[in-house]
Amino acid sequence: MKSLRVNIPSREYNIYIENGLLNRCGELISEIFGGEKIAVVTDSNVFPLYANTVEESLEKSGFNVTVITVPAGEKSKSHKYLGFLYDELLKFGITRTDLIVALGGGVVGDLTGYAAASLLRGIPFVQIPTTLLAQVDSSVGGKVAVNLPQGKNLVGAFYQPKLVIIDPLCLKTLSPRVLSDGMAEVIKYGAIADEKLFETLENVRDTDDLFEKLGGIIYECCDIKRRVVEEDEHDTGGRMVLNFGHTFGHAIEKKYNYETYTHGEAVGAGMVMACGFGEKIGLTPQGTALRMTDILKKYDLPTEIEIGKDELTQAMAVDKKGDGSMISLILLGKIGRAVIKKFAKDEVRGI
Ligand code: GLY
Repeated sequence: MKSLRVNIPSREYNIYIENGLLNRCGELISEIFGGEKIAVVTDSNVFPLYANTVEESLEKSGFNVTVITVPAGEKSKSHKYLGFLYDELLKFGITRTDLIVALGGGVVGDLTGYAAASLLRGIPFVQIPTTLLAQVDSSVGGKVAVNLPQGKNLVGAFYQPKLVIIDPLCLKTLSPRVLSDGMAEVIKYGAIADEKLFETLENVRDTDDLFEKLGGIIYECCDIKRRVVEEDEHDTGGRMVLNFGHTFGHAIEKKYNYETYTHGEAVGAGMVMACGFGEKIGLTPQGTALRMTDILKKYDLPTEIEIGKDELTQAMAVDKKGDGSMISLILLGKIGRAVIKKFAKDEVRGI
């Protein structure tokens, strides 16, 4: 079993990665939790696939388990379903010495994590991510949140899980589009921090080859995220590199009402724009945008999405990485090395 230790002082935790780990989650959770009750939160897509396996494994280890299911989709990341979770968790009689498990993709992880962070001023929680995006990104690092009508992730916390259990076999049931969605974030890790990983992704032959390599690829991505989060848990500096392609990507998501394109698709096109911008100002080597385009195509991700200057400007105005008239953009010094650069917003408008 591959494992990583996230060393955030007083909130250290392990990430375990191996095919079939879902069947062993009871035993793994026993290592870090000596209480009695566990509430598993999942969604209506994941419930029929994996809830039984997880429940059985937890019960075999002697825990008293309940499973709470929310509808699949972004709409569940709301105060309505946060209230629903609070109700169900309290009905189960949860206390601060019990445990909550998030079993699902990014929506379930973020919603459950925020419920765990806020109910009774904090209940320990474990992440069992079942999508590629959640396995390489949202389950690690403690960002938990719900959306507001005014925008995504506007209410949240930094609340680290006690353990992350990653079973790459879960990815076998993802649709090709959801798998590609996660691949955009995987490509991002190669681009910002690891040229070898980028090359591995360029050289993957087909889906079978990808699945053979996926355990190792997920490990490399989590290791990069671990390093970044250890240095800057609260996202005030270096953690920004994880947002490579995201300023442009968020503008695209917003313009298309978060409906037409997935997060990964928007970020993919955003990474091409960021490479192009870097090339234009002489920071990024010529040809990088083309290399990015090629790898995105290989994973069936769009490389160019229509977005107007106004939408871009608006998105930059509210970007969390902005400060007044300046914005920090994440660009590439080369594939494998991200650079954080500050620009006047007007300069970026001219791209
Ligand atoms: N998903 C970006 C971060 O965790 O900072």
